Amino acid sequence: MAKRLAKHRSRPITKKKGAAVRRTTIDNSGSDGKGGLPVPRPFLRWAGGKQRLAGSLLEFVPQNDEYKRYFEPFFGGGAVFFAIQPEQAILSDSNNELINCYRQVQANPKVVSALVRRYAKRDSSSFFYNIRDGNHKARTKVAKAARFIYLNKAAFNGIYRVNRKGKFNVPYGPSENGPAVPNCVALVAASGCLKRARIVAGDFEFVVRNANRGDLVYLDPPYPPRSDTAYFVHYSADRFGWDEQLRVAKVFRRLARRGCLVMLSNADQKKVVSLYKGFYVHRLNATRWLGSNGDRFRVREIVVTNYVPAKMP
Ligand SMILES: C[S@@+](CC[C@H](N)C(=O)[O-])C[C@H]1O[C@@H](n2cnc3c(N)ncnc32)[C@H](O)[C@@H]1O
Repeated sequence: MAKRLAKHRSRPITKKKGAAVRRTTIDNSGSDGKGGLPVPRPFLRWAGGKQRLAGSLLEFVPQNDEYKRYFEPFFGGGAVFFAIQPEQAILSDSNNELINCYRQVQANPKVVSALVRRYAKRDSSSFFYNIRDGNHKARTKVAKAARFIYLNKAAFNGIYRVNRKGKFNVPYGPSENGPAVPNCVALVAASGCLKRARIVAGDFEFVVRNANRGDLVYLDPPYPPRSDTAYFVHYSADRFGWDEQLRVAKVFRRLARRGCLVMLSNADQKKVVSLYKGFYVHRLNATRWLGSNGDRFRVREIVVTNYVPAKMP
């Protein structure tokens, strides 16, 4: 199996004419280190988001000229996408509000920014609960995107969690200096990068059915809970249970058979690792804290690939 998979590395993928091979380094300065051009970066805080791990994850991602299109079907905050800035991408998530937000930032970053600023100016606990509980309805798609960004930044720990009826239910809890909403420069920079992507709402399995030989697919599903009864992150009204982990593993195998380059992040749990026999399972040195409120705990991470990464850490 290993030999067959290793073939992926040597199969040449023709570089498209004019396709830039870009890769950003991860820093927090807001500049590209070459004169202050704004660097596109994630502008939402997302539970399970890989922003802090992006540096380590990049070691496993093929260079931009080694694959055709980039698929990220569990997009969330999009840390890996913004770090690698692929030339052509298909980005998706099952969270409709999140996808609307990216589409609006893609098309109308300045309008979204102006509306977000308006929300942020009026920030207070009572304003937050009015906005959260729908007393001030955002009617247009662009207003909904701005509302989403404000709530994401003003809610406790930037968590997105919904109750069983699908209603956002995270309490107020911005950082010390108020909600750290992205400014216009940040949203315009993100928009530039998103313009090279098709952004779709939907289930991961449905979206990657169009991935072909030579495409890179990065799967970053919600992690399994520590126990069968503890669901620590609720991204949507549908819980991501063990059956879903099995479905992810099936999709991983299907894509690998089709000749895609496939990379997956997940928790370093025996049960999870056993789903990826025959593939390359790498352990990240970094650990992360996951969970919300008082229920925070450490998670060790694995990265599974069906190819040998060029730069093994
Ligand atoms: C671990 S997070 C992804 C984090 C992301 N990689 C980042 O860096 O921010 C998992 C994402 O999967 C999405 N999701 C959950 N179930 C899904 C499904 N069936 N299909 C597609 N996306 C799903 C959630 O909305 C969430 O955004």
